[in-house]
Amino acid sequence: MKENPVVIAIDGTSASGKSTNSKRVAAALGYTYVDTGAMYRTLAWYCLQQNINIEDTKAITAALKKWRTKLVCADKAVYLTVDGYHPAQEIRTSATSAAVPKVAAIPAVRAWMKRKQRQCVKFGNIVMEGRDIGSEIFPETEFKFYLDASLDERSRRREADGIIENLAERDKRDTQRAVSPLMFSLGAIPINTSEMTPEETTKLLLEKIYEKLAKRQNKSGTTNKTDEI
Ligand code: C5P
Repeated sequence: MKENPVVIAIDGTSASGKSTNSKRVAAALGYTYVDTGAMYRTLAWYCLQQNINIEDTKAITAALKKWRTKLVCADKAVYLTVDGYHPAQEIRTSATSAAVPKVAAIPAVRAWMKRKQRQCVKFGNIVMEGRDIGSEIFPETEFKFYLDASLDERSRRREADGIIENLAERDKRDTQRAVSPLMFSLGAIPINTSEMTPEETTKLLLEKIYEKLAKRQNKSGTTNKTDEI
């Protein structure tokens, strides 16, 4: 019997090392990488571009019905296109970073994203990074990780990338929103990356994943509970 796709959920704070490590883990396993933050960023970028007031919940909810998006998988990575365009650079500007937590706090936006994100298993086994993957998007997966690092260390990493950002403010918005806030989900393995190199973090993640994959294989004949999409 064909097994359901494996979903590896990697949640955590901004600049905790989620992206670097999720990409490395996906490459090592040959799985498809999904950056859910980029999906929220794409919506924030679209709203800014369309002059939609980022504080206007109704207008943003209406935009969800209007924008023409597609989930694309290329080179083992999934992203959203809008009218066939992939705004890869635009979604990383500081204007988009500041707008995205506001858009991400809207319940209709989260419901829309949840639908799209659950569809990603059509691309096979995935490593999905975000804030609520283990708690809300794929709560049934047995592969859940939560990455964090001290605020000082995370700010230092952002600065090293040439980005000056108020991470404390973004943390506050992400952890205090009413719907699907960033939180440690039941069964997740916590990893504090403050004093770890990316190589050490990837190694640890892979060790834990291989352990769980071996257990899953031993339970042959059983399937995980990823719902039909
Ligand atoms: O991961 P990244 O920093 O690109 O995410 C940008 C923002 O998107 C986060 O600060 C958060 O507001 C939102 N986000 C979210 N849920 C996710 C992924 C990102 O609310 N699963």
